[in-house]
This record gives sequence, C-alpha cells and structure tokens, in this order.
Amino acid sequence: MAPRLSSAATYRPAVDGDRDVMRAFVAQDLATTPYGVVVEYFLHLASDGAANESRAIVAERAGTVVGFVLFGEVAGTIGTGRVHFVSVTSSARLDGVGTGLCEAAVADLRSNDGRLVVAEVPDEPSFLPGRTLLDRCGFVEIGRVADYFRDNTDLVVLARTIPGDTPTAGVDRA
Ligand SMILES: CC(C)(COP(=O)(O)OP(=O)(O)OC[C@H]1O[C@@H](n2cnc3c(N)ncnc32)[C@H](O)[C@@H]1OP(=O)(O)O)[C@@H](O)C(=O)NCCC(=O)NCCS
Repeated sequence: MAPRLSSAATYRPAVDGDRDVMRAFVAQDLATTPYGVVVEYFLHLASDGAANESRAIVAERAGTVVGFVLFGEVAGTIGTGRVHFVSVTSSARLDGVGTGLCEAAVADLRSNDGRLVVAEVPDEPSFLPGRTLLDRCGFVEIGRVADYFRDNTDLVVLARTIPGDTPTAGVDRA
C-alpha cells in the first residue's frame, strides 16, 4: 500500500511486531471502560489470519507507531466494511493523524470493492473525539439503539458511502 494522504504521518499495514503496541494503545484508551473487550476481539481476529474481517493500518512518525485503525469487511455482506477502532497516542492527537488513519482504512476498503462503511460507538462523552473524527471522515449517524450498552447509554450507528459507488438510501455521500 502506498503511503497515505495526510502528511501528519506515514501509513502502512500492521505487521505481527505491531501487535503489542496496538494492545498497549487499547489498554491506555479503554482499560477503565467496558469496551476494551470488543476491540481485543477484533485485534485477536486480525492476528488470527482473519484479515478480511479485521486488519490494521498503523501511523508512524520518525519510525515510531503513533496510532492505528482496525477495520475490515463485514462477513456475509457485499462491499460493506466496518471501522472497529481508531487510536492515536495522546502526544500525537489533534494533528490529523486520526483523520489520516480513517482515510487510509476507507481507501483500503475501496481497493477491495467496498461501497459502504459502518462504525458503531457508544453515545457517551469519552467517545466525542471519536465521533468528531468519524464526522470529519464523512460518517453520518444513521441509527441508534437506546440503552444498548446499559441504561442511558445508546449504541450509535454511523455510516458513509465510498465515493464512486451508487448512493445508498439513508446515507449521505462523503
Ligand atoms: C479519536 C482519536 C483517534 C482522534 O485522533 P486525532 O489524531 O486527534 O484526530 P484528528 O487530529 O485527525 O482530528 C479529527 C477531528 O476531530 C477533532 N477532535 C479530535 N479530538 C478532539 C477532541 N478531544 N475535542 C474536540 N475535537 C476533537 C479534531 O479537531 C478534528 O476536527 P477538525 O478537522 O475540524 O479540526 C483520538 O482522540 C483517540 O485515540 N482517542 C482515544 C480512542 C478513541 O476514543 N477512539 C475512537 C473510537 S471510534
């Protein structure tokens, strides 16, 4: 894969040696929440040879991994991808790295005949940076499930189409 769009970092597919740093990022971001287990599941899939459903792209600065995006095709669908998680280390945030990772994932899905991408996030304040990032990356809210995670914490379903394809009802084109 060619180095990607945003000049905030360089982007490359993750390799086995990136596993520990990605786990450390998840621990840092989600250890005090109930959500780490879901991301761990997709990290495990990625290292278990299920790249269709879960693979990662890392962002590097000066040879150091500063973030990653975990994503893949949704099993049983034709051309629907899912962004499982995006993480950028604290010191590199608010500088376009997350946006670059999101764009890199969408570009990868596009090159694999993707036509739609979804993301699912809890509706809670700690995920506002993630919601803003997904908004900048062209995702729009297409639905929510009330009290999904627990009372008063909804599941928000976001989606965006991949340019060049037929628009999908209910989803704005990016
Ligand atoms: C979410 C996260 C990946 C964003 O990474 P990032 O490198 O800071 O993202 P970017 O710099 O590309 O910012 C993207 C947009 O979101 C906005 N944004 C990011 N963090 C923000 C924050 N804390 N408050 C307000 N806006 C924020 C940026 O201003 C930018 O908007 P702009 O284009 O209008 O300037 C990072 O905050 C993170 O790792 N958080 C912990 C893990 C997490 O919650 N992941 C999201 C799961 S969906």
